[in-house]
This record gives sequence, structure tokens and C-alpha cells, in this order.
Amino acid sequence: MEVVIVESQVEMARIAGDAIAAVVSSRKTPTLGLATGSSPVPVYADLIERHRTEGIGFNGTTMFLLDEYVGLPDGHPQSFRTVIRATFTAHVDVDPAAVHGPDANADDLKKACLRYENLIADAGGIDVQLLGIGSEGHIGFNEPASSLASRTRLKTLTDRTRKDNARFFDKHEEVPRHVLTQGIGTILEARHIILMASGLAKSVPIERTVEGPVSAMVPASALQLHPHVTVIVDEHAACRLKHADYYRSTFKHKPERQAI
Ligand code: GLP
Repeated sequence: MEVVIVESQVEMARIAGDAIAAVVSSRKTPTLGLATGSSPVPVYADLIERHRTEGIGFNGTTMFLLDEYVGLPDGHPQSFRTVIRATFTAHVDVDPAAVHGPDANADDLKKACLRYENLIADAGGIDVQLLGIGSEGHIGFNEPASSLASRTRLKTLTDRTRKDNARFFDKHEEVPRHVLTQGIGTILEARHIILMASGLAKSVPIERTVEGPVSAMVPASALQLHPHVTVIVDEHAACRLKHADYYRSTFKHKPERQAI
């Protein structure tokens, strides 16, 4: 696990943006895994800017959302499909038909999850997966006690996650209870995973993810099992890391200062 401690959101976005731009520019049919929440928004802004000013193109790229609320009608402003369109995909040249999410309005949700897994596999898997982290350590919507081998499936949100996400809705009761989410096993198949976190509220889950034991009680800790993970955190989210100085010096003395 590479841990990068940054001074600003702009630096965080630039480092993640470098990695994505490198993949998008070097592969014929790149695949990106997209997350919602606040953390990835500056990365999307960075990529939109690169598209405008440097001509980085997303035509030919396939994109996969991590998760989706169950029960929100198509086009609801908080459905993750709508959010990702508004914050990213509507502003670049990706084919809208190449942006996929789990179909949380399907009559048969089990089948929809299987279809989603097959879609990702048919696209050749995911090159770069962006992740945020929940305050209890979830990735996607894999809440504590999720199987570390799980695949895309229906999950029930914890009260804590519903409270955390209430800021996006008019009322707390409007936050759906159920979601479809890529499983931890699904996420771990991405070739490069970038997890981003900012703020003091993320310092405990980040400490447990990076320096704690691998445990289903902290789903993000499963990332320790993956060979290519980059954790980008601001000083607040990093404040409980015991080996912060080591991570800083590792990044400073990185043999090749290339995109991570
Ligand atoms: C939601 C998403 C998660 C994300 C989390 C963190 O719950 N489903 O994938 O990790 O938000 O959000 P933020 O980036 O706002 O901290």
C-alpha cells in the first residue's frame, strides 16, 4: 500500500488525475471505476480541466459506478448515475452508453447484480478504481461485516451511513435504506485502486485501513491484500497514522517520480 499525505485537495486531485490520465492516454479501451461522495469530485474537476486544456480524451473509455441507491427513480438528483453525469461524464467526451452502474430499478435485483459483474468482466476488468471511505470503513457501500469475498449485491445501509449521506437529501428519512454495491471481491480485482480521504472524521477509518488488522469490520482494510493500492490523504485524515513520517519520506524518495 502506498500512502501519500498531501497538503491540499488540489494536490490530491492532481495525483489521482495523473494516474487516470496515464491509463486513459496509454490504453486503447481503458476502463475506469468511479465513486461518488465528496472525495472524488476534485479529481473529476481535474480531469475535466485536462480534457479542456490538454485534450485528454475519454472516447473509447468504459466507466463503471461502484454502487447505486435502490428505490430512487431514474433521474433523481441523488441517484449516483445522475451525480456522476453532473460532476464528470457530461463534461467530457465519453460515450454516455459506456457509463454503467448497477441497475437498482430492475425487477430482479439479483439478476441485475450478476449482469453488472458480467459487464465488468466483459470489459476486461477495471484499470483504475477510485474509492472514498465511509466513517465506519466502508468502500462502495460494503458496510462492516461484509464478506471480504463479496460480489455485487443488495446491501442494507447502517444508520451511520444514512446519517452521513443525509447531507445530500432534504430529510434524513429520504436516504434509501438499500443499495446495490460492487462487492469487496469485485473491487479487489481492479488493477490499481486509489482511495482518497480528507478531514478528521476519516482519521479513525484511515488508521484502521492502513495500519490495523485485515477485518470484515473495517471493509477497507481488505485493500491490504491488493498489490497496487494508493491511499491519498490530507493531514487531518492522516493524523492518527503511526508511520506517517515513513510514508512521507517514501513518497519524497520514490525512485521514479512517475504517475502512481
Ligand atoms: C458514499 C459512497 C462511498 C464513499 C463514501 C465516502 O457512502 N457510497 O463509496 O466512500 O460516500 O464519501 P466522501 O468521499 O464524501 O467522504
